[in-house]
Amino acid sequence: MSQPEASSPGRRGLGGARIVLGVTGGIAAYKAAELASTLVQAGVALTVVMTAGARQFIQPLTFEGLTHRRVYTGVFEGWNDGHTGHVELASGADLLLIAPATANTIARLAHGNVDDMLSAIALATAAPIVIAPAMEQHMWLHPATVANVETLRERGVTFAGPDAGRLASGAMGQGRLAATGEIVAAARAALGRGGPLAGRTVVVTAGGTQEPIDPVRFIGNRSSGRMGIALAEAAIDAGAAVRLIVTRNVDPQLVSGDVVVVESARELREAVDDALPAADVLAMAAAVADFRPERVSDQKIKKQGGQESLDLRLVRNPDIIAGVEKAGLLKVGFAAETEHVVAHAAAKLEAKGLDLIVANEAVATIGSERSQATLIARDRAPVSLPEAPKHVVAARIVDEIVRLLTLEDADA
Ligand code: C5P
Repeated sequence: MSQPEASSPGRRGLGGARIVLGVTGGIAAYKAAELASTLVQAGVALTVVMTAGARQFIQPLTFEGLTHRRVYTGVFEGWNDGHTGHVELASGADLLLIAPATANTIARLAHGNVDDMLSAIALATAAPIVIAPAMEQHMWLHPATVANVETLRERGVTFAGPDAGRLASGAMGQGRLAATGEIVAAARAALGRGGPLAGRTVVVTAGGTQEPIDPVRFIGNRSSGRMGIALAEAAIDAGAAVRLIVTRNVDPQLVSGDVVVVESARELREAVDDALPAADVLAMAAAVADFRPERVSDQKIKKQGGQESLDLRLVRNPDIIAGVEKAGLLKVGFAAETEHVVAHAAAKLEAKGLDLIVANEAVATIGSERSQATLIARDRAPVSLPEAPKHVVAARIVDEIVRLLTLEDADA
């Protein structure tokens, strides 16, 4: 089986990234199989390195089957046919991810001990390191582990988890391996470091607002939140710090860090206002209700005998993005239209004072996995993108955001 191939220059995100996954000896090692499978399916060139402890819990064959690559264990492996073992694995990696990481491995890394392949790679690599610990909670809280974690953090290592919950011992506490989605998100953020949006904060809204009628009913829309989530991920892949504001029907599982959940348009506006001071870019992918019920009933509205209709009076919601004013903020809106898509979107670009608007045909886009978007900025003719999965479209939108920020910087 081959060594990791070179990732393409300018690569962004997980596709084509060369990741070394270190698996260490805790019961959570079985979960590393699912993590490996998820990464491989996302297009990662994944090489697994196991400690002796990990091999007590799970076989190298499991990972060889999932990655189609050789699995490394001993420090003297991989020196055949002109290859240079840990040196080559360390220098060929875009990221070293250790999941699960035991207290022992964290201690070995903090102290620079090299007694197996994983610790050798950790010392030899210049790639970012992400560690997802998993252990019994007294081990996690022990002052020795706390000090070791602190040492590694100071050296720039990122930690994902551990989460609180039921531990393998049956006790409840801190020490569960973070969810696969959370680990993958931390890996993306580490891979994105130093990208074209490094040092920028991007605020993204995703989903569809829900405007309450009574305690059990609301007026909503069909937005799935996929475009906003894809945009948040693409911005993280480009190195941005992202604040994601999602409506409560959206699962933000693949986005690391800063997530705020809201329900109505007015809650969404408050969340945007809170996020604005730090924001360089505001991208409003959320479908915001233009109207809300004037009165929200405290009690569930009951139908009366013989009642044939119910009057619901709606009042205007604030236009959030139009109302935002902050010098230097790049405002990105989305327009889902059913007719005259580009003309209507261009009018909104003007009316709302936007820098960029992403125009879509509403019926084909909302709730779908794919999108056909046109990017409309002020300084050039509209750019029509090919129909593609939303994560591909999101990467193009991020490229356009980078282009506009670069122009802004040049003007400043
Ligand atoms: O006017 P329309 O709803 O088509 O505008 C779409 C854009 O404006 C989207 O970016 C949406 O998030 C934003 N919007 C808003 N506040 C509203 C309605 C829409 O910020 N009340």
